[in-house]
Amino acid sequence: MDEIASITDTNLTETQFYNRADEINMLSSLLGTTEFNSSPTILLTGIRGVGKTALIKKIKHKFDKEYLVVDIDLSRSNAYQQKKLSRGSIIKIIYDAIIKASKEFGLRTLDKKIEKYFKTNKFKIDKILSYEHIPVPVFESEENYARLADFVMELPQKIYEDNSDKLKGVFIFIDEIQLIKDLDNVDKFLWYMRSFIQNQKNVAYLFCGSMSLKDSLINDLNGKEGAFGGRMLTIEIHPFSKQTTREYIESIPRNILLDDGGFERFYKCTRGIPYYINIFAKILPENITLTENNIIELFKDSIDYLAVHFIFMWSKLTFQEQKIIISLLGNPKRRIEIANTLEVTSGSLNRPLNRLLDFDLIEYVNDKYQITDPILTYWLQNSHEKNGIYPFRSI
Ligand SMILES: Nc1ncnc2c1ncn2[C@@H]1O[C@H](COP(=O)(O)OP(=O)(O)OP(=O)(O)O)[C@@H](O)[C@H]1O
Ligand SMILES: [Mg+2]
Repeated sequence: MDEIASITDTNLTETQFYNRADEINMLSSLLGTTEFNSSPTILLTGIRGVGKTALIKKIKHKFDKEYLVVDIDLSRSNAYQQKKLSRGSIIKIIYDAIIKASKEFGLRTLDKKIEKYFKTNKFKIDKILSYEHIPVPVFESEENYARLADFVMELPQKIYEDNSDKLKGVFIFIDEIQLIKDLDNVDKFLWYMRSFIQNQKNVAYLFCGSMSLKDSLINDLNGKEGAFGGRMLTIEIHPFSKQTTREYIESIPRNILLDDGGFERFYKCTRGIPYYINIFAKILPENITLTENNIIELFKDSIDYLAVHFIFMWSKLTFQEQKIIISLLGNPKRRIEIANTLEVTSGSLNRPLNRLLDFDLIEYVNDKYQITDPILTYWLQNSHEKNGIYPFRSI
C-alpha cells in the first residue's frame, strides 16, 4: 500500500487517512442517536476533492459492525454512466445496495421475505437480472414503479424491525446526490423520499455531494420551501487549514521539506484540498528543502497531473463550451458579455452554460459566471504559455 492515498482511492487505510477528527466526532454523535429512535437526516457538502467520500467510507467502517450501512454512489451506477438516471433507476440502485449490505452483514432471512412479497404482489420480474438469487423486478416499468418505490423506501425500517436484536439501526448514505438534478421533477421526487424518511425512526440518511452552498438543489432539499424544509442538518466539509496541511505533510513518510515561503506557496497552490495535496506531495522531491521559487517551478511542471481530471473533462466538451471557459479566464462575466465575446446570441448560451454548471466547471455568483477551480485556469494558461494556443478540440 502506498504511503499517500492515490486520487482514485477513497477507501483509505488508517495511515493514509489524516485527521478529520472533529468531523468524525460530529457525524458519529449525530448518527449514533439512531440507536435511540431519533435518526437524523444529514446533508454533507463541500467542494470537489475535499474528502467527502473518503470521510463517509471511514464512518462506514466505524459503524458497520453494529449498524446496517447502505452505501450508495449514484455516479458509479450503470444508469448514470449510460446517462439514463431516472426515478426508477435510483430506486433500483437503492434496492440493490440494501440487498448487498444485508448480505454482507449476514442478514439471511431477507431473501425469502422479498421473494414472497414480489410473488404476492405480482410484479413484472426480470429473470435475467436476478441478483444473488433474489429476483429483481423491472423498476423502470411504470406499472411496477409506484408500488415498488414504496416497497424499497419502506424496506430499511422493516429490516431494522425484523433484526433489532442484531442492529442498532440502519444508515443510508447516498453519495453524489447532485446527480439527481438531471431528473424530471426533482422536487416531486425529493418530497416523495421525505415522506418516508421522516417516519423512519431507526434509519438515518446522509446525502453527500459536491454542491456549493449557492446551489439550487440545496434549496430544493433544505430551503424554506424545500422538501426537508430546514430539518436536514447541513455539514460542510472544509479544506485542511494551513496548520493541518503542515502537520499532514510532516506526517507523510516521504521526507518533504519546505521552508516557510515554500510551505506558503504549497498551501496557495493546493488550497488545503487533500486531492491536490496528495498529487503534489507525491511529485515533490524528497530530502531537499524547497523554497517558494522551487514550489512555483514544480507547480508549473506538475500542472498536467494536478489537472488530470479537468484534461479528461475538457476533451469531452464541445468547441463552444471550451470557448466559453476561455472567455472566462480573465475574469467573471455576465451572460451578455460572454455572448458578445463569442459573437453569438445570449439565448444560444442556455444549453452550454447549463452543461458547464452541471459539470461544476463554472459557477454562477453575483450575476456572473466564473471558473470554479483555479487549477483549471492555471492549466489552460500554462498550455497557452507553452504552446502559444489553447488546447481547443480540433474541429
Ligand atoms: N482525510 C484524508 N487524508 C488524506 N487524504 C485524503 C483525505 N480525504 C481525502 N483524501 C484524498 O483526497 C482524494 C479525494 O477525496 P474524496 O474523493 O473523498 O473527495 P470528495 O470530496 O468526495 O470529492 P468529489 O466531490 O469529487 O466526490 C482521495 O482520493 C484521497 O487521495
Ligand atoms: Mg466524492
